[in-house]
Amino acid sequence: MTSTPPPYHNPPQLPSHLPRGYFAIGAQRISKALNLGNLMRSAHAFGASFTFTIGATYQALEARADTSKGQDRLPHYNWTEASALVLPQGCRLVGVELTDDAIDLPSFRHPMRAAYILGPEQGSLSPDILARCDHVVKIPTRFCINVAMAGAIVMYDRVKSRSATPRLP
Ligand SMILES: C[S@@+](CC[C@H](N)C(=O)[O-])C[C@H]1O[C@@H](n2cnc3c(N)ncnc32)[C@H](O)[C@@H]1O
Repeated sequence: MTSTPPPYHNPPQLPSHLPRGYFAIGAQRISKALNLGNLMRSAHAFGASFTFTIGATYQALEARADTSKGQDRLPHYNWTEASALVLPQGCRLVGVELTDDAIDLPSFRHPMRAAYILGPEQGSLSPDILARCDHVVKIPTRFCINVAMAGAIVMYDRVKSRSATPRLP
């Protein structure tokens, strides 16, 4: 008599081309609904595991305009202050800011588990958040670009550099 194998006898194998790890993206003191909606839509499209905000304005949170309905499928955390930010164990916090000592994005090696944080439309990442960051990266532009656009570029660079397809020499 043959017995039924236990449920995890043959665990499913994930396709080998899928990179390991996960990422999240968020913004500090974001104030415009269109920017938050745009960032969340890109996060959903690029495969983020969750999104977050720190001190977002009520208006940005309530009227966020993500037409991909990311809020129905992706967890979103909203912390009121930087000190409340909690990340999963082993998840590296990566600041995205145009500072002199930030690492240029094209040469940045993205951590396997990462949470990227962007600054507000008017201003920059706060000193307490920058102090908590494991890394700070910048996009090599001559001046600041739109926050949601910056987020999409960082996510594209992550997905591209961590995919199995080698970069062109
Ligand atoms: C529009 S910028 C902030 C405005 C800017 N501090 C100013 O007053 O000129 C909003 C956020 O987008 C991100 N950002 C924009 N351009 C960037 C770049 N070239 N490199 C890294 N982050 C950038 C940063 O997170 C920044 O805090």
